[in-house]
Amino acid sequence: MKRISIIGTGFVGLVSAICFAKKGYEVYASTHDQTKVDTINQGLSPFYEKDVAPMIKEAVEKGNLKAVLGREEAVLNSDISMLCVGTPSRPDGSIDLKYIESSAREIGEVLPKKDSYHLVIVRSTVVPGTTRNIVKPAVEASGNKIGEDFGLCMQPEFLREGDAIYDTLNPDRIVIGEYDKKSGDVLEDLYIDFYGKDYLENCPILRMNIESAEMVKYGNNCLLATKISFINEIANICEIIEGVDVTEVAKGVGLDFRINPMFLGAGVGFGGSCFPKDVNAIVAFAKEHDYKPSLLDAVLSINLYQAKHIVEIAKSELGGTLKGSRIAILGLAFKPGTDDMREAPSIKVINHLFEEGVTDIIAYDPYAIENTEKIFGDKIKYVNSVEECLKGANAALLVTDWDEFKALTPEIFIENMQKDSVLVDGRRIYDPKVFGEKLKFKAIGLK
Ligand code: UGA
Repeated sequence: MKRISIIGTGFVGLVSAICFAKKGYEVYASTHDQTKVDTINQGLSPFYEKDVAPMIKEAVEKGNLKAVLGREEAVLNSDISMLCVGTPSRPDGSIDLKYIESSAREIGEVLPKKDSYHLVIVRSTVVPGTTRNIVKPAVEASGNKIGEDFGLCMQPEFLREGDAIYDTLNPDRIVIGEYDKKSGDVLEDLYIDFYGKDYLENCPILRMNIESAEMVKYGNNCLLATKISFINEIANICEIIEGVDVTEVAKGVGLDFRINPMFLGAGVGFGGSCFPKDVNAIVAFAKEHDYKPSLLDAVLSINLYQAKHIVEIAKSELGGTLKGSRIAILGLAFKPGTDDMREAPSIKVINHLFEEGVTDIIAYDPYAIENTEKIFGDKIKYVNSVEECLKGANAALLVTDWDEFKALTPEIFIENMQKDSVLVDGRRIYDPKVFGEKLKFKAIGLK
C-alpha cells in the first residue's frame, strides 16, 4: 500500500487526503498553518463541504490521516507527494505561482534525505509550462535528479464544490500528464489500485505530456464557463421576443447528444473560486503570448453583464429607478450547498444596487451570511429567514438556487412584500405560469 503526502490542505488537498485515507492509504496532509494541523488532527474540518467532517474524523481515528506542520515529515514518510497548494489571481487576472514554486522547492529540500524514488504530482490548476519550467527546477534545486531521484506528473482535478467527495470517488476520466514513462506508470498503478480495474473500464486513464494535461483543465473549465455564457446570451436574446422562454430553448438544445443538457442553466452567471479565476488566467496567459482570445473575453464580459442585467430588470419594473426601494436578496453563496462567497454573483448584484443608489438591501442565505458580512459589513442587512428578508421589499432578486427557495410559493412573496413589488428569478427556479398569474414576476431569459 502506497504512502501519500498531500501538500496543501485547502479544498482539493484535504478532499483528496481523506479519500485516499478512506481507502486505507497512509496519508500525511502537510500545511504551514498550525491551527489547521490541530483542527484536522482533532478530527475536525477547517471548512464546510458535504461529508468531509465525518470522513476526517473517521480517517484520523483509524490512524490513516495525519496533518503535519511543514513538508519534512510528510515527504519522508511517503512515496508520492501531491501538490495541492493555492494559485491565487494577481490584480491583472494572471495566476500567481509563488506557492507552487515554494512548495516544490520545499519538497526538493527533503528528497536528499530519502533513498527511494519519489513521485511529485501537481494537482493545482496551473498554466501550461508551469510544471516543467517552475516545479521541476524547484525540486531539482537541492540536487535531485529527475528520472532517478524523483518523477513528475501533472494530474488536473475536476471536483465540484458541494460534490467533491463524490467526484473524487467517481471520476469520469483520469488525466495523467507525465514527464517520462516511469512517472506515468507509477501514477497509473496508484489509480489502478485505488479505483480497481472494473471501475477503470468505464473511466479511461488518459496519458499525455505534462503541458497537454495542464491545458485539459483550462479547456474543461473554459468550455463549461462558455456554455453558461452562451446560454446567458441566448437568454438575453429570448427576452426580446414575447413568449420565448430560455428554459424551453435550453431543454430543446441540450437534448442533442452532441451538446448535452448540463451547464445550460441561464441566470446571473457563474462565480466561485474556479471558473472566473481560470478563464481570467488563461486569457492573461494567451495575451502574454500575443494571442487575443476573443471568445473567452466575451465569456467573461457576458458573465459580468448578467449581474447588472438582473438589477436592470428590477429597475425597469419599479418605474426606472431603484432609489428609495427596499431590495431583498435571496441567496448569497456562489452556488447552493456551500458557504463560499468567492466571486459570487451576489457581490456584483449588490454592488450594482449600490451604484443605483439603493441603501436598503436585506439579504438571506442559509449558509453564507457570515462570509458575506466579511465583504459588506453593515452596508446591507442580514436576516435569518426568507419571510424576514421579503418583509416590506419592493423587489426580490433570486440569486442562488437553494432548494429552500425552490420550495417557496407565490403566496409567501405576496404576503410579505409590498403591493406592486416584483420578484426577479435570476436562476430560473420558478414556473413563470404559476408565479406570473399571482404576482409581478420577471425572470432572466423570458420577456
Ligand atoms: C467547477 C467545475 O464544475 C469543476 O469540474 C472543477 O473541478 C472546479 O470548477 C475547479 O476548477 O476546481 P465549482 O466551481 O465547484 O466547479 O462549481 P460549478 O458547479 O461548476 O458552478 C460554477 C458556477 O457556475 C456557479 O456559480 C453556478 O451557479 C454557475 N452555473 C452552473 C450556472 O450559472 N449555470 C449552470 O448551468 C451551471
